[in-house]
Amino acid sequence: SAAEKGGYDYFMLKEIAEQPKAVADTLLGRIDGSGSLSLDEVRIPAGVLREIDKVVIVACGTAFHAGMIAKYAIEHWTRLPCEVELASEFRYRDPILDAQTLVIAISQSGETMDTLMALRHAREQGSKVLAICNTNGSTIPRESDAVLYTHAGPEVAVASTKAFLTQLVACYLVALYLGQVRGTKWGDEIRAVIRDLSSIAGAVEQVLGTMEPVRELARTLASKNTVLFLGRHVGYPVALEGALKLKELAYMHAEGFAAGELKHGPIALIEEDLPVVVVVPSPRGRSVLHDKIVSNIQEIRARGARTIVIAEEGDEAVVPYADHLIRVPATPTLLQPLVAAVPLQVFACELATARGNEVDQPRNLAKSVTVE
Ligand code: AGP
Repeated sequence: SAAEKGGYDYFMLKEIAEQPKAVADTLLGRIDGSGSLSLDEVRIPAGVLREIDKVVIVACGTAFHAGMIAKYAIEHWTRLPCEVELASEFRYRDPILDAQTLVIAISQSGETMDTLMALRHAREQGSKVLAICNTNGSTIPRESDAVLYTHAGPEVAVASTKAFLTQLVACYLVALYLGQVRGTKWGDEIRAVIRDLSSIAGAVEQVLGTMEPVRELARTLASKNTVLFLGRHVGYPVALEGALKLKELAYMHAEGFAAGELKHGPIALIEEDLPVVVVVPSPRGRSVLHDKIVSNIQEIRARGARTIVIAEEGDEAVVPYADHLIRVPATPTLLQPLVAAVPLQVFACELATARGNEVDQPRNLAKSVTVE
């Protein structure tokens, strides 16, 4: 009913709008007064976490994209090798797992059969499984050794939005916590990022306040057949997520690429007026990456692409090559997906509406996939 949708036309719009609160709720009670993480609820003893020598993440769809981003954070802050695998592929490849492997299963519903089967396989090999889940008491957390709930509140729209952002926050918490427990040379950075996370809800709110031009742009693209998405580093999974949203909601051909792969094939797809969304990393910090993606934007634009550029405020280098510029607040590099994903959700939702599609219930899809 309209009341359930809180005055919004669709649950998806309501859930997009709820993201600042959802993100704050994921953090609630998990940062102590001294600015350290307190995750006692993760009932895997610190001693066990110190012995872990590898992290493996299993998930599907949007949750898999959260896992891809988590890999960058976990490897950077913990120096543990981290693999991310589609849950549906995992057990069939006879993965190397043992008691020193921490498996993280990410699932909004907690009922995804592929993810459940992957975690059962991992536990059979003696690995510890930590679930990152949004649904209290669902099967995946019940069958795991420990759970970190995302506390996003019920997500009704089939297309995942607030669950994704809160999965990211939960993944950052796990990465930072592992770093904190194991002690790495990044101690100062870990404390600084915990501070930055505390203010991230405000940054998400700020993005939501600037989405009207994104909606306008989406409407002008309603008759296009294809949209491509490019990113590097953590922007690459964001590009994949932007493409998935567009497939699900707008039923358009959409593909995400790592920008560095362009010259290895995908650049052949570029033609006159093809919309290409580019997620640009911060020019601060990893400036090499930034320079490289700016040349990627130049290259595709020279071949006729219509460039839709998502870039941090103050990044002037992209301005000459952006046909459309979407600004997001500056964040530490690893946290950028929390702000960069939001315009892509709004973009896909508006395109679906413009194309007359059912936003909350896209054709052929179920909210939770309980068959393999
Ligand atoms: C996201 O928009 C999708 N509907 C889908 O990819 C989803 O993320 C996937 O099926 C995993 O679901 P889960 O998080 O409930 O396990």
